[in-house]
Amino acid sequence: MTTITVFVSLVLFCSLLSLYIWFNKTRSFDYFRNKHVFITGASSGIGKSLAIYLATAKSARVSLAARSLNKLEDICKSIQEKGGSAQVIYLDLCDSSSFTKALEQSTKGFGNIDILIANAAVNNDGLCFTSLSLEQLDKVMQTNLRGTILFIHLVLMNMMKDNGGHIVGISSLAGYRGLPMGSIYGATKAALSNLLESLRIELYHTNVHITTIHPGFIDTPAIQGMKHPKLFLLSAETAAKKITNAVASRKYTYGFPWVMEHIVMRFIRYLPETVFVPLLYFLTRKNFA
Ligand SMILES: NC(=O)c1ccc[n+]([C@@H]2O[C@H](COP(=O)([O-])OP(=O)(O)OC[C@H]3O[C@@H](n4cnc5c(N)ncnc54)[C@H](OP(=O)(O)O)[C@@H]3O)[C@@H](O)[C@H]2O)c1
Repeated sequence: MTTITVFVSLVLFCSLLSLYIWFNKTRSFDYFRNKHVFITGASSGIGKSLAIYLATAKSARVSLAARSLNKLEDICKSIQEKGGSAQVIYLDLCDSSSFTKALEQSTKGFGNIDILIANAAVNNDGLCFTSLSLEQLDKVMQTNLRGTILFIHLVLMNMMKDNGGHIVGISSLAGYRGLPMGSIYGATKAALSNLLESLRIELYHTNVHITTIHPGFIDTPAIQGMKHPKLFLLSAETAAKKITNAVASRKYTYGFPWVMEHIVMRFIRYLPETVFVPLLYFLTRKNFA
């Protein structure tokens, strides 16, 4: 191959790459404008930051759903004061009788849901499995799994009727492998990621997109009580921006921060059990043994 051929191929490759990046950026720029985005767990942490960012910076119409109505009212007011569109919806994922009313109320205000961000979840407070009561185990399963899955199903049925929509599940890097003090929480997140992957295949031929988000440590009330080091901790605001970009680009899955997803967790994922189990035990035993 002559130098000229190599040079022309390189220029062609760079031009195509730039065109691809430009196309994706323009396609995702206005993705949320005027869309009805329903966010579960919008009263705190990542859900709250997402709601504020989407309503004020991306011109989405946001349904803020959770149980703490006072907190939601305050967030809604601050969004509206900044010129954004938001409404408050009561939703308790542990009580499926609240689901239909929540959906009716939200569609009455903003029309059919375009994007569902299934974000609400509880964790097991950094406790190991045997320290958790049956009630604590049940609460994590009811909220993160049963409630979340039933609610996704309900919204999805409407999206299928509308022939379009986007379901975003906030899972966790903790769902990649069994981790100490993350037992039941990690199990619910692994199950959610698995479910969303199945949906992605089943709905491949439709206009319904499915995105799974795997965040690392994010500075929210959920992880305040945890004793172990929170590596590469990010603010909820940064997380909200990263999630927004991933959803707008219609990514299948997105894990962050980059180092946690591509270095730490990738390394951990492929370690054989014979190394993984004693290594994790050695590194974390002082927190639970
Ligand atoms: N923070 C992290 O480091 C981290 C890392 C990976 C993944 N995540 C995931 O990110 C998501 C958000 O977590 P976060 O850190 O922002 O937590 P957070 O600040 O504790 O917020 C949790 C939200 O879930 C809502 N919620 C809890 N139980 C509910 C129920 N029964 N029905 C309806 N809503 C309920 C809470 O609202 P009410 O109490 O008002 O109902 C709250 O708005 C979760 O899925 C979490 O697993 C977080």
